[in-house]
Amino acid sequence: MSTVTTKTPRQSPLAQSSSGTGMAVRMRRLRANAVMRSLVRETHIRPEKLIYPLFVVEGKGIRKPISAMPGIHQQSIDEMLKEVEQVAASSIGAVILFGIPESKDAQASGAWSEQGIVQKATRAIKERFPDLLVVGDTCLCEYMDHGHCGIIEGGRILNDQSLEILARTAVSQAEAGADIIAPSDMMDGRIAALRQALDGANFTDVPLMAYSAKFASAFYGPFREAAQSAPQFGDRTTYQMDPANAREALREIELDIEEGADIVMVKPALPYLDIISRARGIIKHPIAAYNVSGEYSMVKAAAANGWIDERRVVLECLTGIVRAGADLIITYHARDVAKWLGQA
Ligand code: PBG
Repeated sequence: MSTVTTKTPRQSPLAQSSSGTGMAVRMRRLRANAVMRSLVRETHIRPEKLIYPLFVVEGKGIRKPISAMPGIHQQSIDEMLKEVEQVAASSIGAVILFGIPESKDAQASGAWSEQGIVQKATRAIKERFPDLLVVGDTCLCEYMDHGHCGIIEGGRILNDQSLEILARTAVSQAEAGADIIAPSDMMDGRIAALRQALDGANFTDVPLMAYSAKFASAFYGPFREAAQSAPQFGDRTTYQMDPANAREALREIELDIEEGADIVMVKPALPYLDIISRARGIIKHPIAAYNVSGEYSMVKAAAANGWIDERRVVLECLTGIVRAGADLIITYHARDVAKWLGQA
């Protein structure tokens, strides 16, 4: 005969309830109403942490919609200033400028010319809205006839020769009044090269926001229509990162910090929240996330079909990016978000 000993179920030390339900911990207590939920909310989106991208073209009176990005336009400087006026009146922190030059060549001369479209647009914005921060996206692909982010010889993208043109571009953007320089080319050694060039031109106080972990992503598709910067042959996989590599992304981030980056960036944002989160655990620098064109287009398309609630989805996405550890976000939703949060 076997003796069956009935053990009393071991009680969790937390579960000492007098109600007899065995539940001392009730997570729903702090979810009871909106005021209570606000009190314990951990993550907030603030418009002053957002950067709004602008696509600038030569000419006058131009405001051309980008088909895959509803609400976003290629604009001439005069039209762009009207939009910037609204941005400046909101609490959005900064704009980032992408230029579409009238003509492209093999030296990307439109990128570093004093009369380049980004230089002209930067001067125009800083003259009227001196307090709005202007970020210069320092890259060559929009200005190269072949659409790559560096100089090409024999079908190869040359690293060190590209650095010289990038450095020249960064200095000319700073001369035009850019408050932050953001190199997005992914050449090796560009942060050190740009820091040296900026310091040499007395721009010791202009910070570098490095596109450090920039992945070779299909989510840039709509941007390439907007910036007319699609590579004419091949792709960007010899300089942008393999989406599969997280440890390598951390190396890129650490390397950019060693070279003098003030802010590091992860791009795109939503498929790479793990990179943001892991970087946050390791580094102390501000982390930027780029919520890129394809991420915007997907939300817009679904919303246009009535499949999702745009406002809630956008705020949820941005909350996720902040929760992962991003301090600032570049997003095409910035103006809508500022409006929704009642600050524009
Ligand atoms: C330029 C650049 C790109 C983006 C920002 N800077 C495109 C690319 O690398 O091909 C993409 C931004 C977006 O998709 O919103 N190098």
